[in-house]
Amino acid sequence: MSDDKVQTLKVKRSSRLSGFYRQTPESRRTRLVESRWLAPEEAEACAGLGGFDEACADAMVENVIGLHGLPLGVALNFVVNAQDRLLPMAVEEPSIIAAASYAARLCAEGGGFSVSWDEPITTAQVQLLEVPSLTAAETVLRTRAPELLAEANACMGAMCARGGGARELEVRVLDATTLVVHVHVDTRDAMGANLVNGLAERMAPRLAALTGGRVGLKILTNLADRRKVYVRTTVPASALASEGFPDGTAVRDAILEAQLFAEMDPYRAVTHNKGVMNGVDAVLVACGNDWRAVEAGAHAYAARSGVYRPLTSWKQGPAGELVGLLEMPLATSTVGGAARSHPGVQRALKLARVTSAVDLAGVAAAAGLATNLAALKALSTEGIQKGHMALHARRVAAEAGAQGELVEIVAERLARERVYRPERAREILAEEAGRKGTVR
Ligand code: MEV
Repeated sequence: MSDDKVQTLKVKRSSRLSGFYRQTPESRRTRLVESRWLAPEEAEACAGLGGFDEACADAMVENVIGLHGLPLGVALNFVVNAQDRLLPMAVEEPSIIAAASYAARLCAEGGGFSVSWDEPITTAQVQLLEVPSLTAAETVLRTRAPELLAEANACMGAMCARGGGARELEVRVLDATTLVVHVHVDTRDAMGANLVNGLAERMAPRLAALTGGRVGLKILTNLADRRKVYVRTTVPASALASEGFPDGTAVRDAILEAQLFAEMDPYRAVTHNKGVMNGVDAVLVACGNDWRAVEAGAHAYAARSGVYRPLTSWKQGPAGELVGLLEMPLATSTVGGAARSHPGVQRALKLARVTSAVDLAGVAAAAGLATNLAALKALSTEGIQKGHMALHARRVAAEAGAQGELVEIVAERLARERVYRPERAREILAEEAGRKGTVR
């Protein structure tokens, strides 16, 4: 076998880890080592607070009095641009990780997710008030743009050395005497908030002098619409058939009706988009990114036509398949901030094999398209409560002391009886444990 082939076999990892949800956290970590997603010491370090301590926290924010934990899980079955990926997710809401993994498996049947992205542009805004002549100001700024961009780049040597830098200067008129100057900066693997905020402050006096205006705010915009990510997936109709819903084309049609509902009604579109952000935010939180910035940008983008609309679209493809698209601004970072100071974030980026900020945006968006699909499929078939209650039953069973396969057995009986009381779980556990003992 050639060296190349050996190398490929060595690095090929599967994101499909069957039975993972039935394991204990400890055995799941072992499984990640066995399947070569994590080194043994990395897996071990995930336990507990994952190396995050009070000193890290105190260096991060103000007035620290302790630490605040969240569950960290991994979403399985993701194939993104033909590569298997595991997606770390930190989130408090049950069923999001299961939903993402389930939908990613359906999408894998059509080849997974195709992801592409814009250059990582973050935009600074400088507000100029009381501008005496808008026409003269616009002319001078457009004429001097190359020089202004060169000046901007002169103060960003390190970013320019990494291949980034100021790319374009844009002038927008807000009213009869107010202008806003946008400076579009390629910030590479940084989200670039500090960089462009500093740049806006430095450029503002010069912009005011050139236009005769008075400087107002100097700050980035979180409507990062030059930093969009695009995800596409295809699900064969046959993959949509499920227990109680044998006809995959009927499930597909019900999903298409759910999409129409979101397109016609902003009240529904908001909830539809919440389902998208369930996946996006969980990945961003695990990877230590500014999810508030992404949320703000996503919702503004959803409303860009003047009407709030769904961020995803689901359509029927030529062979009857379900085709899903997601387009949204997604400003991410893999350097600085938490990526530098939080050991759990460093591990999450490594586990997800994140190679750049745009790559992170791509996998977070794939997670968003997946959680949206899972929600639409559940809502247009059995409803989401059945799945939620099944997960709840597993938790009650585990809390009652069930372990291994008994978790599923007890949970199934609780769900069948629609009784989720701990005392009933303990009774069932005693019966089932006794029965297993007898059989043995
Ligand atoms: C719940 O976290 C998300 C959903 O409401 C999304 C949706 O309705 O599409 C299920």
